[in-house]
Amino acid sequence: MSTDATLNENWWDAYATAYLAEHDSQLPIDVPTWSLWALPEAEVGALGEIEGRDVLELGCGAAQFSVALARAGARCTAVDISAEQLALAEHMIDRATELDGERPDVTPIQGNVEDLSQLPDASFDLAFSDYGASMFADPLRWVPEAARLLRPGGRLAFSQITPMLEVCWPVEIGVATNEMVKDYFRLHRIEDRAVYYNLPYGEWVRLFRRNGLRIVDLIETRPPEGVKTTAYRSANQVEWSRRWPAEMIWVVEREDSEVGANGAVVPA
Ligand SMILES: C[S@@+](CC[C@H](N)C(=O)[O-])C[C@H]1O[C@@H](n2cnc3c(N)ncnc32)[C@H](O)[C@@H]1O
Repeated sequence: MSTDATLNENWWDAYATAYLAEHDSQLPIDVPTWSLWALPEAEVGALGEIEGRDVLELGCGAAQFSVALARAGARCTAVDISAEQLALAEHMIDRATELDGERPDVTPIQGNVEDLSQLPDASFDLAFSDYGASMFADPLRWVPEAARLLRPGGRLAFSQITPMLEVCWPVEIGVATNEMVKDYFRLHRIEDRAVYYNLPYGEWVRLFRRNGLRIVDLIETRPPEGVKTTAYRSANQVEWSRRWPAEMIWVVEREDSEVGANGAVVPA
């Protein structure tokens, strides 16, 4: 396992309980919800069909999103690197079991999304991540793994902060400013309290293409009308996000083709 993955595992083990206390209000188990602005998936429309699908969540945290999808009829596998987060996921599953009188179809597993060799090729219809692996794992490693695990035609959808926000975000201040302070073309590994990642837009596009993923959409979310603050953002950060895109949700699909050893797409 990479040093960064171990560092992030330790960080999330230590932060899991406090993170949940701070953000629980925005992470429901009844409505599948994208986190930064608490936008219901029904409005965002990134995931497509849910019922009866084999779904993989990459970096699930306490797995609220998977629990909500399972309650809508999906069969979910929820992967996280942190044992503490997975313990909280078990609580969420128990909470849903009490509410519904039956256990939601969520299988939590501990793993590093950069190497999920314990899971067989082409075993999921949908892979998704809401600021999980999509932010805290190296995209040059986890995107090829997600592509491998998807069935042909399967979908990958994930949220992340935008490269635009990233270049305006000095690590030492920890909020977005109106000044570009990071080098856009050098975006990749970013060290903060945990290590996280982003890429220039063109690098994201080329990464998808190299892994046989065609782009369906790039959704640039905005805070809903009337929202002043959220569990993730203060008032001035909400205002920033009304002017510039703070959050992106990529939607890509696996082409009906194989990805060769050199990354070239080979028709099936
Ligand atoms: C923001 S949290 C949870 C995401 C959840 N959707 C939420 O909003 O609460 C990010 C999660 O990614 C997990 N994570 C970080 N790096 C990972 C990796 N390499 N493999 C699997 N999970 C990882 C962390 O343990 C953490 O639970």
